[in-house]
Amino acid sequence: MRIRILGSGAGGGFPQWNCNCANCRAVRAGAPGFSPRTQSSLAVSADGANWILLNASPDLREQIAAAPELAPAEGDPVRASPIKAVALTNGDVDHVAGLLNLREAQPFSVYAAGRVLQALGANPIFTILQTQLVPRIELRMDETIPLKGAGVDLGLTIRAFPVPGKIALYLEDKNAPNFGTSAGDTLGFEIAETKTGKSFFYVPGCAKVDEALANRLRGAALVFFDGTLYHENEMIEQGLLGKTGSRMGHINMSGEDGSVAAFATLDVARKIYVHINNSNPVLDADSRQRADVNAAGWEIGADGMEVTL
Ligand code: MLT
Ligand code: MN
Ligand code: ZN
Repeated sequence: MRIRILGSGAGGGFPQWNCNCANCRAVRAGAPGFSPRTQSSLAVSADGANWILLNASPDLREQIAAAPELAPAEGDPVRASPIKAVALTNGDVDHVAGLLNLREAQPFSVYAAGRVLQALGANPIFTILQTQLVPRIELRMDETIPLKGAGVDLGLTIRAFPVPGKIALYLEDKNAPNFGTSAGDTLGFEIAETKTGKSFFYVPGCAKVDEALANRLRGAALVFFDGTLYHENEMIEQGLLGKTGSRMGHINMSGEDGSVAAFATLDVARKIYVHINNSNPVLDADSRQRADVNAAGWEIGADGMEVTL
């Protein structure tokens, strides 16, 4: 099974169009140790020919252009794509807006939780993906199902499960507890290769590693995990946004309640941060924070990075 990080950045990417923080300035200037990052997405394939996208970011067009595997192959019909399916972990803009890049009457399947399908259904712009060509398939929690699209069996299965998180920003209800979040608004995925049984986890948004999540991830071969922030308060401290990580539904890397500490005893063979926000000091390859997470066994995901499992 091949896994390619299409985009390792969080919403806004790196640099973010309107951000003048120290990191964004450095990457714009081409400073050593800083690499640009597009927004949050992976591509997965069992056979190297047919692919599923895990989240569809607003940068998808550029991500496809950078990945020869995702272009029509020589000898394909005049309209063709190796992208046979898309699975969404939530309804956030950075994870669904790329569906609009996949218009042009191409068949593929969309997998998402019922509430995310409702959000797509409530927005007429997504009718550009006609449901006869692009069926929307509900992911039920903790059910393992085969991934298929455009008449192709991808040779992969998906198991979706709820993780602590938050409803999409544009759906927040300011008057409801936890902004109207319900279980299933933020999912993790376990993707397995049918032939070999090998599997990995993808959890790009997560507010907390609770006991249920720790138990699922323990002993995993590979986990791609929420690397949004290093510190709970870094966006406030840098004057970027008056919100903590918890308010945004994202765990921080550092500290007693952070992901580095939470994974310390989980015995995960390979741990890769994705969905890294432009405020995060680990984006500087020469930073103390980067050295610290590396020393704890974490890799910092990068656009175009590939893992074979
Ligand atoms: C997030 O990850 O918190 C969201 O992508 C934020 C957003 O929708 O801008
Ligand atoms: Mn996001
Ligand atoms: Zn910035």
